[in-house]
Amino acid sequence: MTPLDLLLSRFSTDALVQPAPDAAQLERILSAAMCAPDHGRLRPWRYVVIRDDARARVAELVVASMKRLDPEVSEAKIEKRRDRFSTMPLVIALGMHLRPDHKIPVIEQEMAVAAAAMNVLNALHFTGFGGVWVSGDVTYDPQFAAELGFDAPHRLAGFLFVGTPGPDARPARRAVVDGYVAQWNGPATRFAVDDSDAR
Ligand SMILES: Cc1cc2nc3c(=O)[nH]c(=O)nc-3n(C[C@H](O)[C@H](O)[C@H](O)COP(=O)(O)O)c2cc1C
Repeated sequence: MTPLDLLLSRFSTDALVQPAPDAAQLERILSAAMCAPDHGRLRPWRYVVIRDDARARVAELVVASMKRLDPEVSEAKIEKRRDRFSTMPLVIALGMHLRPDHKIPVIEQEMAVAAAAMNVLNALHFTGFGGVWVSGDVTYDPQFAAELGFDAPHRLAGFLFVGTPGPDARPARRAVVDGYVAQWNGPATRFAVDDSDAR
């Protein structure tokens, strides 16, 4: 398999089983973040590694946030979320150390965090592991972010659930790229995928 074939075979999955990367493997995998495009070299990405018993403890913070955001939230939703955070082989909270006063616009800082997260997902795949990036309302709850160490203006970008793809993991079906590419010759571009959208 060429490196590009390997990249094209990446998919997200939450059908994850043990093992998760150990400390040494994870250090190599997270090093991929340091290769992300990053305007101003601000390195705004931060990774909070949540293993073992800490998963159940963070799950309780997630549940408390859900109840704070929606006092009517159903018990079923709470149980599902508690279960996911407590049982995924490894959880990584994606932090964004943002500098709104810096000349680099915040959106570019956020995009660097996203680019770094993508590098980490690719590194997981390249090393035989897998994962998925999830968010949900709790990601944008300032109190929950602060509890994880991200007081405003710093924020969360979500979580990576990480482990080894299990027997239920299914590779994604991918759309062909042609409709997302246009040749520019002067007039404003149009894309086949947008022309075919039902409006
Ligand atoms: C910022 C961000 C937040 C996401 N949040 C969720 C989420 O909360 N739940 C979910 O099922 N997928 C979420 N996704 C999508 C998955 O990470 C994943 O991309 C999707 O399942 C498609 O799989 P693929 O990466 O194999 O194409 C999110 C993606 C991004 C970039």
